[in-house]
Amino acid sequence: MQTDFVPDDNLVCQLSTNRKASDPCTLVIFGASGDLTARKLIPALYQLYREQQMPPDHRVVGFARREKTEVAWRQELREALNLYSRTQPIDEVLWKSFAEKIFYCQGDLGDPLAYQKLSDLLAKFGAEPLQQNLLFYLAVSPSQFANVVQQLHQARLLHKDNGSGPGWQRVVVEKPFGHDAESARKLNRELTRFAGEQQVFRIDHYLGKETVQNLMMFRFSNAIFERLWNRDSIDHIQVTVSESLGVGQRGGYYEEAGALRDMVQNHLLQVLSLVAMEPPVSLDAEAIRNEKVKLLQSLRPLTDLDVRRQVVRGQYLAGLVKGEARPAYRQEPKVHPDSSVETYLALKLFIDNWRWSGVPFYLRTGKNLPLSASEVRVQFRQTPHVLFAAQCGQKLDPNSLTIRLQPNEGITLRINGKVPGTSVAVRPVRMHFSYDSEFGAYTPEAYERLLLEAVAGDATLFIRRDEVETAWQFVDNIRNAWDGQPLADREFYTAGTWGPVAADDLLTQLGHAWREPVIVK
Ligand code: BG6
Repeated sequence: MQTDFVPDDNLVCQLSTNRKASDPCTLVIFGASGDLTARKLIPALYQLYREQQMPPDHRVVGFARREKTEVAWRQELREALNLYSRTQPIDEVLWKSFAEKIFYCQGDLGDPLAYQKLSDLLAKFGAEPLQQNLLFYLAVSPSQFANVVQQLHQARLLHKDNGSGPGWQRVVVEKPFGHDAESARKLNRELTRFAGEQQVFRIDHYLGKETVQNLMMFRFSNAIFERLWNRDSIDHIQVTVSESLGVGQRGGYYEEAGALRDMVQNHLLQVLSLVAMEPPVSLDAEAIRNEKVKLLQSLRPLTDLDVRRQVVRGQYLAGLVKGEARPAYRQEPKVHPDSSVETYLALKLFIDNWRWSGVPFYLRTGKNLPLSASEVRVQFRQTPHVLFAAQCGQKLDPNSLTIRLQPNEGITLRINGKVPGTSVAVRPVRMHFSYDSEFGAYTPEAYERLLLEAVAGDATLFIRRDEVETAWQFVDNIRNAWDGQPLADREFYTAGTWGPVAADDLLTQLGHAWREPVIVK
């Protein structure tokens, strides 16, 4: 069954007008010759420019070590748009005017003269706000964060707490934000020496996804679900973020990260906190982030014994994914041939608060799984069997609600219905809401939203200092319990399967089973 959309303007509650940043400003991208700039940042900025969402007056400066001319850099970006822009073909007239706003500053991150050069370039932009309202995007290794902010401070380009100097300045940092709680705390201390916490925008690109933002909207604007959203009605919740690709060329990075640091510490715990948090007192960034932190603080810490019982790690062996041959993780470039790094992780956790006490939450993520799909499945409690037990026994399906984050963005409610006819037969049926059919072609691009929010100075979709540290504390227990132990044979899985068998056992302990994501047509 499809939902019927009621296109009545009176029923549309617009919480704010279109997000539009209006202060003239300059975005400075550090690490501009990296992949992220070409794949994500420039296509997102082009799209925002195309939709006239950026401040009418703005500039983009790429800062990188490689020697190249402005013309050459613009040309590179133009070619990147052919590959990565979500709107094709590229509008040449539009590109020409956008390209005039793009500049290149060659320099070494550690060299004070390079920052002087940057300052001189900004001075050439004329209008004061373009020199003073500055968004510094740190697409560089975290080991460079402290250095860059210190240099910016010394070059008088970054003023702490927006107020001690002219204009505003913000620092956007990419993940990974540290590799454990201690390094995250250290990074936070270093960053906040030269920038106030309100100036630091820590990215988790999952928060820029429309469907992830909708989690909160869905929960708190639908009274019928929020009333059921607790231990009385919910049996358990599954969060799956599966990927059909392997680590590919990112073996070097992945060897340091593994699935726990790469996906669980950030994306999965963020999704979990939006699914499980209490209603915030308002839609302000701080109110929302307070609730997310409270939720993360309520996660029951895992002891070594819990980790053995509740966490399953895995690593892919060679296999076929969608008919395509994939090498084993240990054969990927830059991966150690004896690596014990996990490319799969499944865990069961509990949230010790009134709402969720005793409800298991299962999280899983992995590479080289049969398909790429992210979803949250809320499994309601079993119906009492009094009426249908004789006919259906245990087979009567409990209701479930599946929130499909990507792809096929939408929501499915599974209910039971009578099969038409003279016999008494009950069968599960599904009600689907799909973004595409309700709102037209749905084109998610997290970076557009995130860049826009950062330019507008709204930190709601970014991770606060205490949030990142609390998330690390939880995952550190897992890493510590592994204590560098090599993977056992049963922890390997063939590429193209749903992970090691132990991940299924994790759920059968309580009579549960993973529900594989289904692609809804
Ligand atoms: C990144 C991870 O943060 O998220 C990658 O580093 C992962 O390993 C990616 O592939 C997944 O993002 P998305 O948006 O494709 O689900």
